[in-house]
Formats: sequence, structure tokens, C-alpha cells
Amino acid sequence: MKRKVIFDCDPGVDDGVALLLALSAKHEIDLLGVTTVAGNVSAELTARNACVIREIVGRLDVPIFSGCTKPLVRDPIEAGHFHGESGLGDLPIRALTHHVSSEHAVDFLVRTLIDAAPESMSLVITGPMTNVATALQREPRCVKGIKEFVIMGGARSEGGNITASAEYNIYADPHAAQKIFNAGPRVWAFGLDATHQVRATPARTATLSAIGTPIARAAAQLIEFSNALPANGPREYGSPLHDPCPIVWLIQTELFEFIPCHVDVETESPLTLGHTAVEFRPRADREQNVRWAVRANADGVFSLINRVFQI
Ligand code: BDR
Ligand code: CA
Repeated sequence: MKRKVIFDCDPGVDDGVALLLALSAKHEIDLLGVTTVAGNVSAELTARNACVIREIVGRLDVPIFSGCTKPLVRDPIEAGHFHGESGLGDLPIRALTHHVSSEHAVDFLVRTLIDAAPESMSLVITGPMTNVATALQREPRCVKGIKEFVIMGGARSEGGNITASAEYNIYADPHAAQKIFNAGPRVWAFGLDATHQVRATPARTATLSAIGTPIARAAAQLIEFSNALPANGPREYGSPLHDPCPIVWLIQTELFEFIPCHVDVETESPLTLGHTAVEFRPRADREQNVRWAVRANADGVFSLINRVFQI
């Protein structure tokens, strides 16, 4: 049976590729809605960008809800230097025919999760986790509708990418991330340890671009923008394809390997704020509710992306 999915994101170049994929995979996943949040760029821009991506795929049946404009506690920290001024690199920003729904993302999450069958919903989160944490805070009964969280965030072996010890999505709202990791439902966590293995090498990007459909071309253009950023390392390595990993996993789970663990997030220390303390050792007082991705089959990931973008 197809998973029922809500996709919470902050597009964002790699969120943009993930969204192209999620919207294109209509035979593989049942995408009930997209919620956007302030993160890589402002809440206004992430919502607009999700609408731009939706129009490229032509999935106007999937509603988009704009959400929280700032993190639960800390000050906002954007990452426009990685995503361009618009948030979508140099992808042309077309005039929209359809805009976001009038309902706030948190209201949509609460309404949908309260009404959902027990443990029926997969919540994919590829940005700061503010929207979902706010929904759980406002209405704790939401938890019962959640089957699993499928998140991009955190780092263990790889160290951080925004500070020495923190990955951006966790650092941008550490208090929200701590709530999600400890809310109860299973968490499938795709941190930098896995996503740094999924690199858009020039050969892989060229293969994607050669598919030639508008969706594949848009994905290749987003990826090319990331590949050209010196901060992403030498061009021949290719930039890491972070946010598509959770969506790929929903479609083909065997492309990733995981280790069971417990995760806590540092929310106090100015030095290590947003660090994910990933505990692989079983301990009686800590539930091993997280599955931490340690290995990715990068060729398999790109084959899947190419197959889905053939539409
Ligand atoms: C994460 O940070 C964001 O800038 C990307 O969109 C991705 O979700 C990677 O650390
Ligand atoms: Ca993101």
C-alpha cells in the first residue's frame, strides 16, 4: 500500500529536487500536502518556491500550506548563501497561477493528524522542524496519527556543516528537533553521514539532464547550482543530495542501511548548539526509536531519480 505522506520543507535547492521527486512519484506515494517553513530562506520565499516547483510538475491537486516564520526559541538563521537569493539557485521564478492554501501549515497538520487513522501518516521533514513541533505542542493527540518521521538532519561521524558539530536543519531549530526525536514514533534519520555519500557527480548530473523532460531539466539546473558552489567542495566530487534521500527511501527502502539508536539534541551550549548526540549503545533508560542512516547506495539513488523523472 502507498504510504500517506505530508512533506514539510524549506525550499531550498535540494528541497526543490526532493519536492520535484515527491510530486512526480504519484504511483509510489500518496502525497496529502506540502507544508513550508522558514529555514534556508524566509517563510514567504519557501512557500512561494514550493508553489513554483508544484507548477513545474503540474500537481495542482497537492495543497501547499505556509507555516512558521521563526524557530521555537532561537533567532532565525537562513542559509541563502547555499541556495541563492530566491532560495532556488538560478532556476527561473515563473509567475504563479496557483498560490498557497489559506490555512496555516500548523493548523493543517493538527487537523489532518487528529483525523488520521492511528499510526497511518509518514511525516517527511527536510528543514527546521518548527511546524511539526508546534503542531505536537499545540495538540499532543496529533502523535497518535503518526506512523513515522522521515527526516533529513543531524550528523554523527561527519561532524557539522554549519558549525563544527551541528548540521543546519538541527541547528536552525534545535528545540524543535529535540521534540521530534523524542516524540515517540519511529524516526528514520538521514543525516550527513548518509547524505554525504549521495553526490551529484558531473556524470550523474549529465545523465539526469539528458532525460530532457522539464522536470528532469529543472532538477539538473538546481543540482548544477549546488555543484558550482565552492563550499560544496571540488566540482568533480559533486554536491551532496541531502533532501531527496528521505523521499527516495519512501520509494525504495533498501537503498539505505540504518543502525538503531537514541538521539538527543544539544539545546543549551553556545559551542555545540544543535549537535545530535547519537547513542548506538542500548540503554535501559533510552528508547531506541531512531534508525540512523549509515550507508547509502548512491548509484541506486540516482537510478531511481532518473526513473521517476522519465514521466
Ligand atoms: C540541509 O540544510 C539545508 O540547507 C538543506 O536544504 C538541507 O536540508 C543540509 O544540511
Ligand atoms: Ca532543506
